[in-house]
Amino acid sequence: MPGGIDPHTHLSMPFMGQVTCDDFFTGHAAALAGGTTMHIDFALPVNHDLLAGWEEWQKKAEAAAIDYGFHMAVTSWSDKVAADMAALTQRGVNSFKFFMAYKGALMVNDEQLLQGFRRCKELGAVPQVHAENGDAVAEGQQRVFEAGITGPEGHALSRPPELEGEATARAIRLAEFVGSPLYVVHVMSREAQQEIARARQRGQRVIGETVASAISMDESRMWDPDFKVAAQYVMSPPIRNKEHGAALRAALGGGLLQLVGTDHAVFNSSQKAVGRHDFRIIPNGVNGLEERMHVVWQEMVNSGLLSPPDFVRVTSTAAAQIFNVYPRKGVVAEGSDADVIIFDPAVRHTLSAKAHHSAMDTNIYEGYEVTGKVVTTVSRGRLVWHDGKLNVTRGSGRFVPTPPFGPLYDGLERRPPYLLDVARYGGVPQRQHRHRARSS
Ligand code: URP
Ligand code: ZN
Ligand code: ZN
Repeated sequence: MPGGIDPHTHLSMPFMGQVTCDDFFTGHAAALAGGTTMHIDFALPVNHDLLAGWEEWQKKAEAAAIDYGFHMAVTSWSDKVAADMAALTQRGVNSFKFFMAYKGALMVNDEQLLQGFRRCKELGAVPQVHAENGDAVAEGQQRVFEAGITGPEGHALSRPPELEGEATARAIRLAEFVGSPLYVVHVMSREAQQEIARARQRGQRVIGETVASAISMDESRMWDPDFKVAAQYVMSPPIRNKEHGAALRAALGGGLLQLVGTDHAVFNSSQKAVGRHDFRIIPNGVNGLEERMHVVWQEMVNSGLLSPPDFVRVTSTAAAQIFNVYPRKGVVAEGSDADVIIFDPAVRHTLSAKAHHSAMDTNIYEGYEVTGKVVTTVSRGRLVWHDGKLNVTRGSGRFVPTPPFGPLYDGLERRPPYLLDVARYGGVPQRQHRHRARSS
């Protein structure tokens, strides 16, 4: 099969006072051992400066051992941000993430969302949203904390799925208002998934990305009496209950969600421990870069929800197409990069921190049993994982530019008019203006 493409990772990312502990080398070693040969990482602006963020992430990626692309987050709005977005699309960044949550930090408001979506449309870039209502989340966190719930379970309680559904619906409607496509990252709930399905049914170009943790784990783990265990599962939007997991698997199997990432953003147990007395400051994020291919196979193929070709689509091909690097990536074909894995569907194995290659000291999949294993990984023609042995070379990974105006833009202008398309308005009526004196 083609090597996996993880469309959603955070390597060496400063976040909530910590820096994610997998860098572009340890994260890449983990990826290769799990059959992933490319990922797209989220670069963050430095003091809202996109180009400074770009420079920063270029440096981080010097250690790269697999091919990678970048999304860029947009955390404010100004003429300079708009200009820098254009500069970045020239440099091979065709996707920009807007955070509707993390109030007081990364969050943008609706006006900024509209400006950002419109700019993406002009540039042929893909606007992405972290969809949760950040104002309501902030209030929810305060209410839960003041009620005396201070542990990781407070995280799940304070930001219910309705807040994810609301923000997803709002982003979808705003994208329709400006006529841009939309990519919703880390879909964690049925509410969000259903909004995406409804939008697609209306003919809107909306992509739903779910993540490995959402389709395999459930929120009960945040109630574990051991803080170290419970805190591992804290990510945003939160991992939901089992009904949400089942709905997401069904939607992925039925083609209502398009691809699976990980949101790999790992903090080791000492980093998570800063939130021991306050769930609001536990750094958010879970692992998955090494586990994703196995987890998706186990949850989706072994359960009969996806065929092997559809597994390839949701773990590799769809990402390559959406981010416009297909057929260089996402397919085994003449002329494509030789990113290839051999997957043995009969090998049984158990995921654990002891056996993984990430720098993490814990693993949310501890004890998770899988039938089917990546036994060989070839990255651009080099044998890098075989028979349980890694052969990873620092600096061997290349930046893969993602060009603008990819398939999400193909023919977009021929779609039925969007909500407010003045350019397509047929013309103003010719009214006669008569001014008569009023009779009294
Ligand atoms: O909890 C998460 N998701 N951490 C990473 C940042 C983000 O929102 O993607
Ligand atoms: Zn996010
Ligand atoms: Zn993320």
